[in-house]
Amino acid sequence: MRICCIGAGYVGGPTMAMIAAKCPHVRVDVVDLNSERIAAWNSKDLPVYEPGLDDIVSQARGKNLFFSTEVRQAIHESDIVFVSVNTPTKTYGIGADRAADLRHVEAVARTIAETADRPKIIVEKSTIPVRTAEVIQTILKNNGMGLNHQVLSNPEFLAEGTAIRDLSSPDRILIGGEANDEGHRAVETLAGVYATWVPRERIITTNLWSSELSKLVANAFLAQRISSINSISALCEATGADVDEVARAIGTDSRIGSKFLKASVGFGGSCFQKDVLNLTYLCGHFGLPEVSAYWEQVIQMNEWQKRRFTSQVLKALFNTVCGKRIGIWGFAFKKDTNDTRESPAIGVCRQLLAERAKLAIYDPKVSAAQIRADLGLPPNDTSVEICTSAEAAADQSHAVLVLTEWDEFREVDFTAVHARMMKPAWLFDGRNVLDHELLRQTGFRVRAIGKDPSPSTSHSSWTA
Ligand code: UDX
Ligand code: UDX
Repeated sequence: MRICCIGAGYVGGPTMAMIAAKCPHVRVDVVDLNSERIAAWNSKDLPVYEPGLDDIVSQARGKNLFFSTEVRQAIHESDIVFVSVNTPTKTYGIGADRAADLRHVEAVARTIAETADRPKIIVEKSTIPVRTAEVIQTILKNNGMGLNHQVLSNPEFLAEGTAIRDLSSPDRILIGGEANDEGHRAVETLAGVYATWVPRERIITTNLWSSELSKLVANAFLAQRISSINSISALCEATGADVDEVARAIGTDSRIGSKFLKASVGFGGSCFQKDVLNLTYLCGHFGLPEVSAYWEQVIQMNEWQKRRFTSQVLKALFNTVCGKRIGIWGFAFKKDTNDTRESPAIGVCRQLLAERAKLAIYDPKVSAAQIRADLGLPPNDTSVEICTSAEAAADQSHAVLVLTEWDEFREVDFTAVHARMMKPAWLFDGRNVLDHELLRQTGFRVRAIGKDPSPSTSHSSWTA
């Protein structure tokens, strides 16, 4: 069997590397239009930082895993074609800022139609609006060589930072196909690939539309939990309750569960915002404005949480950060990834720059060029310094803001950091990962998400 995957991104690369490593009898070709990205996949410096990924790639690369820009050749020779191109939020025209931009998916469907000279199984890996398979089928039918291709939906549920663990031991694999014999056969073929290492009972098969919608809904529910706990974090700060204690207490109820209840400066990542927006757009499209408005609140709460965090910084620093150096610890949207898409750090930093702060940013995995691009800085900018350690970012700063929960931030010598900061030295923990009591004893003034702002005194409100 031969498999190819169009799109060598955060999803396509690791997923295909796992299939190749687990199925040595299958040849896997990962292709992408971006030749720099492909060169990186063929080098020692993979374009995606993900714990454990290097091992999996080096195990299979050159044996049954190949990265190239030969899109048409790979399609031509494959039995199964995964489509894992990006589906960003549309930035123009009807549905701008809400609907998914499907131009890459359409382009790939057209390329497959022109190239395939025998029936293929085409697998939607990208997150797409419900009924996109119909679009792909229509393009294939109208442009192809009259062949009966099968389109399947097989959404990916891996989370960045834990992709290898999620891929090797997934909660479930979801495969949707057409409700006819050919559809069932195609679903079984793909299920057979995963069954090499995933227990059969974890492979859920369903119809196309349920599968497509399930991915959007899974991400919407996860994002909703974070916005829910973040909304409660504001109430905790006002009342003296501790959001981590509340999360622990409610999380032990097996009907609620303990995961995705970590209050934070806001959720980021390429999926949550995009997918919730897409869900609201779909609801509007299908005449369900109340449902749309309900999910819209998940996004609004996330935006408010980021603004609220920045306002607290501003307020604590005597309502002005103009010209003040502020240390930013962490820029990735979560730990253990170099991905910054929709990272809450971008919004917080931009708001601080609008207040004319001087930022000293450190992230262990995000490149300086990426940070500068995300902040839209001109080449001659002097408002941002990219540092090579957490200590350097804190040096001479009025405040340190923890925006990503990297483990190494817990290991910092806070006494030394405090000594080299401006006073009063502020620490804003946007991820609740540090020992706040110890920090206070060291001399820091500490603010954290959903924590009593002045634990030793009365509970005066400081909500923005
Ligand atoms: C994935 C999913 O595909 C997306 O739908 C989901 O919501 C987020 O995760 P991801 O792998 O993170 O996307 O995207 P990205 O890292 O941008 O990779 C997509 C790749 O597809 C890029 O390398 C791009 O060059 C490539 N591409 C895009 C093509 O090869 N051909 C195209 O026509 C368009
Ligand atoms: C998510 C889904 O988890 C995954 O199933 C889907 O395939 C893609 O989208 P990802 O965005 O990679 O994965 O990471 P995730 O762990 O879900 O974190 C998303 C954001 O939420 C991060 O910014 C993270 O810091 C934040 N988060 C997560 C919280 O603020 N609190 C939590 O309790 C969990």
